[in-house]
Amino acid sequence: MAERTARLGTVQETLLIPLYGRAVESRKRDAVLRDPVAEELVAAIDYDFARFDGLPSLLGTVLRTSLFDRWVAHFLAEHPTGTVVEIGTGLNTRYERTDNGRARWFDLDLPDVIELRRTFFTDTPRRTMIPASVTDAAWADTVAVHSGGPCLFAAEAVLPYLPETDVREVIGLLADRFPGSLLALDTSGPGHFDTQDQHDALSKVDARMQWNCADPAKLAEWRTGVEVLASHTFSSLPAAMYNELPAPVQQMLSGLAAQRLPRVEDYRLNLVRLP
Ligand SMILES: C[S@@+](CC[C@H](N)C(=O)[O-])C[C@H]1O[C@@H](n2cnc3c(N)ncnc32)[C@H](O)[C@@H]1O
Repeated sequence: MAERTARLGTVQETLLIPLYGRAVESRKRDAVLRDPVAEELVAAIDYDFARFDGLPSLLGTVLRTSLFDRWVAHFLAEHPTGTVVEIGTGLNTRYERTDNGRARWFDLDLPDVIELRRTFFTDTPRRTMIPASVTDAAWADTVAVHSGGPCLFAAEAVLPYLPETDVREVIGLLADRFPGSLLALDTSGPGHFDTQDQHDALSKVDARMQWNCADPAKLAEWRTGVEVLASHTFSSLPAAMYNELPAPVQQMLSGLAAQRLPRVEDYRLNLVRLP
């Protein structure tokens, strides 16, 4: 692959952290997930990825992605022709890991990210990139026109970077336009949010989170009928997922659980159903 320089805006740069996390993990002998495409992308992008070498949170990004993959795979098992919308997709490769050959996919992100993404990926009849902010309601028309069935929206490491007022608007937009849909999202509560300047990876970039959410149940206060179907921390991952993790990762997570660190316990991975 030819080398591409990543000229990205401040919040957009954060996409390189989970991308690198997946590439590093993929090269391990006993890996949480395999992602050869992420390995290729990292090799092709001119960026100082070495700044993230050895950071514990790289594994965190991989565990988060793996849980979101499971939710998407479960959704597609129930709805093989359903629609998956990646909100703030970055250089995410979930399609490559979980597509079933029948689902409809959308990858939405800010225009400079989609421009970079288009140098690696192309649209197909089942896969469409949308250059837009998630706060710009017009993108919902594109999704609604092309998809009829049930939808899952995956907003992985995206909404915490938005101001709370914007997150409220996005939840309202999704509930209005795609009632009954699933939304996978992460939430950063005080112990995590208030220590972000010391966060091993975030402290290496300029972007900062803006939405401090102590409890994902808060979404039901904004929109009656929002139902939290699952909410996990890294120390309380679903048993089925935990049991399949490499033994050293299990040991590390057990150690984390025993410490009950606020910066770990206040970061949650959630699956909600919109009313
Ligand atoms: C930490 S990265 C996560 C990327 C991807 N979801 C993943 O897990 O690999 C955050 C992403 O959110 C995107 N983002 C931030 N604000 C956005 C907005 N208002 N609309 C759409 N995407 C946004 C960024 O451009 C970036 O790609």
